[in-house]
Amino acid sequence: MASNKTLLILPGDGIGPEVMREVRRVIEWMDRRRSVTFNVVEGLVGGAAIEAEGSPCPDSTVAAARAADAVLFGSVGGPQWDQLPFDQRPELGVLRLRKDLGLFANLRPAVVLDALADASSLKPDLVRGLDLMIVRESTGGIYFGEPRGIEVMANGKRRGIDTEVYTEDEIARVARVAFDLARKRRNKVTSVDKANVMQSGRLWRAVVGEVHKAEFIDVELENMYADNCAMQLCSRPKQFDVILGSNLFGDVLSDLAAALTGSLGMLPSATLGAPDGAGRRHALYEPIHGSAPDIAGKGVANPCAQMLSFAMLLRWSFGLDEDAALVEKAVERVLAGGLRTADIMQAGMARIGTSVMGEAIVRELDKLAA
Ligand code: NAD
Ligand code: IPM
Ligand code: MN
Repeated sequence: MASNKTLLILPGDGIGPEVMREVRRVIEWMDRRRSVTFNVVEGLVGGAAIEAEGSPCPDSTVAAARAADAVLFGSVGGPQWDQLPFDQRPELGVLRLRKDLGLFANLRPAVVLDALADASSLKPDLVRGLDLMIVRESTGGIYFGEPRGIEVMANGKRRGIDTEVYTEDEIARVARVAFDLARKRRNKVTSVDKANVMQSGRLWRAVVGEVHKAEFIDVELENMYADNCAMQLCSRPKQFDVILGSNLFGDVLSDLAAALTGSLGMLPSATLGAPDGAGRRHALYEPIHGSAPDIAGKGVANPCAQMLSFAMLLRWSFGLDEDAALVEKAVERVLAGGLRTADIMQAGMARIGTSVMGEAIVRELDKLAA
């Protein structure tokens, strides 16, 4: 099963390159054992790109991302770049890629693996079998709205400004992604907003309702205020199937959902654009965690979120469902076998580092493919 797909890898900063190294092992394994060959290209983003080229997202990186069939993104940011002017920060790397490639739908699945039910921040019974999908709008809202900035007022004091703006088309297209996904899952969408206090939230609720009525009346739609959703996620998470939210609410709620699954180090994501006439769509796959400066360089980061992001890439961009399932199964088996990185460590398990986890995943792949 040969392939001529181009895969752009952007390791970025902090633990990004550490966890990406383990994915490279799996790519090499696939080359060797499954005859799935990718044309792998590596590029610069974030602080690494600032150091090398003076920009967190050089034009050459955007061009390479456009040309690639899929992008696997690590993480960006770190304290060494915190003092840079706002428009030069490493985080702009990922924001520009999402915006320039039109990647408006960020899919963040939160699945509790059986082996990790005890590692959750909640009682195992509340989360065992949990399988929810957060659909986060990712090119609009308060992340991009104008005006924004810090300005000095007439009294000499400063004020900081961000603006939440959503057009009805932006809301409708991401709502369609959520409803479509729900049809392939348990047929329920919970749309979160603050329609009680925000104008953009009122429009959000109205447009989601209109799209539902016109195109997806067979799917159950529930509207929920975002603050209540945070509480419900912590108390009765299994009521949810697909959660649809704005850029900001989706960001916050997905970190919360990660804690339910055991660790931020477990959750992958796919950020997708609209398919073109030929059915080809830009897509970037990124763990939901950041560069974790507190553990970077120590070799202890959990590579599973990056690995599972690669599995999503195989499935969503390359149609390699069997290979994606193999990678997911291998991760699951390693965890079930009792090997754990520090973030998901439990009594009676063996603590291992990033590379040993990567090697163990490849060993499981060998067994699964034997
Ligand atoms: P973070 O996600 O980097 O880390 C939060 C906590 O989770 C830390 O204690 C960290 O050690 C832990 N953690 C995260 N990933 C882990 C993994 N794979 N294995 C084990 N533990 C893990 O968030 P933060 O500390 O708020 O942000 C650090 C930097 O990362 C900031 O510069 C931030 O802007 C950036 N960031 C980038 C992305 C991205 O590139 N997509 C996402 C979030 C944050
Ligand atoms: C994420 C991150 C990013 C976001 C930052 C680094 C721009 O938190 O991918 O969840 O807020 O989208
Ligand atoms: Mn985030």
